[in-house]
Amino acid sequence: MGKRALERRLSAVADFADPQVELEQYATPADLAAHLVHLADVHHDVAGRTVLDLGTGTGMLAIGAATRSPRRVVGLDRDGTAIEQARENESHVAPETPIEWVVGDATRAPLCRKNLRAKSVDSAESTELTESASSVTVLMNPPFGAQTGNQHADRAFLETTSAIADVSYSIHNEGSLDFVEAFAEDAAADVTHAFRAELPLSRQFEFQREERKVIDVEVFRIEWR
Ligand SMILES: C[S@@+](CC[C@H](N)C(=O)[O-])C[C@H]1O[C@@H](n2cnc3c(N)ncnc32)[C@H](O)[C@@H]1O
Repeated sequence: MGKRALERRLSAVADFADPQVELEQYATPADLAAHLVHLADVHHDVAGRTVLDLGTGTGMLAIGAATRSPRRVVGLDRDGTAIEQARENESHVAPETPIEWVVGDATRAPLCRKNLRAKSVDSAESTELTESASSVTVLMNPPFGAQTGNQHADRAFLETTSAIADVSYSIHNEGSLDFVEAFAEDAAADVTHAFRAELPLSRQFEFQREERKVIDVEVFRIEWR
């Protein structure tokens, strides 16, 4: 399946029904999600691997990855309502690989490289992720912190990623290049790809004046060691 076909499939993913401003809940658009997943697939970062979508929200990135023959896909969000919606979105798109949905905080233990334990919404059982260190890909569109005055809220997501992934694809707000490169350098990681993209935001919150606003974002592929 090509990028365009994936974008068409992902257009069935419904937006947040009741977005929470403090969690920065806006969906990754289908075209950007398809681009990210396609790029990851071309780099052999999806098929046969564990893919973890941190801050999965509507499930857009996890669902996209689940169409590309991963070994396992986990979508994690701290908001149980979003996870329920992601689950419903999964049933609309019907990706070939079933997704494990987990309610949990992406920025806190026990999410760690060898062992991810968190309760899924419909099970009291722990979800364990015990992978070899070289097979975990993180895809994420984390909160930026720009609107909530919590500058670089994405730092905590990067910290988690550095502990559990060997490669990641992440979306950050415009002007993040220096921050992401410095973070990667400190972690002895390599930013192998960086490109700009546009993120259309429809009016969700009262403080947003325009019906639709397009913001510039930056996307990074990072190899962690
Ligand atoms: C910008 S949205 C991305 C949504 C998602 N990628 C999508 O396309 O629908 C950020 C997401 O991160 C989640 N989130 C915020 N803080 C979190 C945390 N500490 N742990 C897990 N998820 C978090 C929010 O609930 C929201 O769904």
